[in-house]
Amino acid sequence: MKTGIIFRAMIISGSILLSAVSSGAADDKGAESIVLNGGSLGSITFPHAVHQGIFVDCKPCHDLFPKEAKVIDKMKAEGKLQKKNVMNMCIKCHKDLTGKGQTAGPTVCMGCHKK
Ligand code: HEC
Ligand code: HEC
Ligand code: HEC
Repeated sequence: MKTGIIFRAMIISGSILLSAVSSGAADDKGAESIVLNGGSLGSITFPHAVHQGIFVDCKPCHDLFPKEAKVIDKMKAEGKLQKKNVMNMCIKCHKDLTGKGQTAGPTVCMGCHKK
């Protein structure tokens, strides 16, 4: 019985230690707002922190590209991302949520692209 309690205490303090370490690594949330290159239609001011407030797990965006500044342009130049790949992921979520009657971001071109 007693060893059971001690063992549990060890597991709990171990997991606290682990979460302290991982929240340290996850501390780099990047910029609050990021201007993305939108090609001929004009750039997009993307509210990064707003999205992180909603989606704590960083998906689905960082499944498509790593957590690095200017990485979308780089991957498009290298052919690792097709043009509008990221854009279609953005629009899909906004459409899905709007379709369910929830608040979401723009789905029309100039809602995101501002010349
Ligand atoms: C809705 C999409 C989206 C979500 C969710 C998201 N990010 Fe990002 N993140 C981006 C975009 C877009 C960029 C900029 C990429 C570029 O400049 O090419 C970025 C860039 C970054 C960068 C690089 C530094 C910078 O400011 O450009 C870091 C670090 C980062 N994100 C961390 C996170 C973390 C941590 C989470 C989850 C808590 C998260 N992001 C959630 C879209 C997202
Ligand atoms: C939810 C925001 C959003 C909406 C709505 C949106 N875009 Fe985009 N668009 C982006 C983002 C982010 C990028 C850059 C990443 C990429 O290419 O996937 C982009 C990139 C582009 C590019 C440049 C592609 C390249 O690499 O040359 C064009 C052109 C474009 N969009 C046209 C449109 C048109 C036309 C519409 C309306 C039918 C539209 N966009 C609606 C966010 C959006
Ligand atoms: C998984 C769902 C999801 C994805 C992916 C996503 N968004 Fe959003 N976006 C939202 C929601 C939800 C809101 C509404 C936030 C609010 O106002 O509470 C929003 C709001 C916005 C707004 C308006 C913010 C404001 O203050 O009015 C813009 C602009 C935007 N998103 C751009 C983008 C771009 C660009 C991408 C892709 C890089 C993207 N979003 C990806 C869900 C998503």
